[in-house]
Amino acid sequence: MPSRVALYDLRMPVPAPSSDARAVVTGASQGIGEALATELAARGHNLIITARREEVLNNLAAGLTDKYGVDVEVRPVDLVDPSQRAKLADELASRNISVLCANAGNATLGPVAELDPAGERALVQLNAAGVHDLVLAVLPRMIEGKAGGILISGSAAGNSPIPHNATYASTKAFLNTFSESLRGELRSSGVHVTLLAPGPVRTGMLESVDSSAATKLVPNYLWVSAEYAAKVSLDALGRNKMRVVPGVPAKAMSVANQYLPRGIVAPMVGRVYKKLGGG
Ligand SMILES: NC(=O)c1ccc[n+]([C@@H]2O[C@H](COP(=O)([O-])OP(=O)(O)OC[C@H]3O[C@@H](n4cnc5c(N)ncnc54)[C@H](OP(=O)(O)O)[C@@H]3O)[C@@H](O)[C@H]2O)c1
Repeated sequence: MPSRVALYDLRMPVPAPSSDARAVVTGASQGIGEALATELAARGHNLIITARREEVLNNLAAGLTDKYGVDVEVRPVDLVDPSQRAKLADELASRNISVLCANAGNATLGPVAELDPAGERALVQLNAAGVHDLVLAVLPRMIEGKAGGILISGSAAGNSPIPHNATYASTKAFLNTFSESLRGELRSSGVHVTLLAPGPVRTGMLESVDSSAATKLVPNYLWVSAEYAAKVSLDALGRNKMRVVPGVPAKAMSVANQYLPRGIVAPMVGRVYKKLGGG
């Protein structure tokens, strides 16, 4: 007699690896994206990996093929650029995509009025449009095939206002809401949608952060590794969980944001992010 979990999985499958299907990972050249690509390869998925640095992607692809025997296609793409983004979206719309990990993202720290306006606009393109366009591209075929998995890298930072991190927090609020809304629309479609909303994960993204301030605020043992975040995210996607929140700080932030008024949360987290920016 199959267990309840097994029955649930049969009703709403994330496609098993197959030779013609591809799992796509954006931002695969380092950090969480690299870990997602590695975990998917270890689970037997053929891949399309993308980021800007082609050589880094080629090395990763060769290593994954060597170790796990999977096909890995490399697409060097700057997702800030609408024309490069459209080209990738067109390709994904025409391919058999089983899993999309829309993960590429970046962050800025500091008062928005003092940051480079072009950089802030680019952040919106990458973090918001770079995810939205690719999700829209893969949706029709996934829905038609009644199967697929979409993992969106939002953030615990998208749960509240964050002075000194305004554009990043806003783009992540967009992703958090988009992911969970989309999941509601696709409830009985066979397509899984899971939001990854982590707190601090040790990756290159935190290079701009004042590391002594970061370690003072979040002690070393509370940081999550990219490999752990990737594993629990793909497990959660398999179970069609609405949101996966790896790590104690992220869980604490989520609970605080649920119960505290935004007017109280904003200045509190603003002070923290000011310190992270070296202020
Ligand atoms: N690390 C954390 O603490 C944390 C917490 C919450 C949420 N997240 C989210 O998780 C995701 C991954 O974060 P991470 O920490 O792994 O970041 P990361 O180490 O900085 O990696 C970012 C990835 O995005 C790619 N990328 C950056 N700009 C790009 C562009 N213009 N076009 C295409 N690709 C681009 C980078 O590759 P190239 O440089 O080769 O282009 C890299 O592969 C992000 O969306 C981030 O917001 C991270």
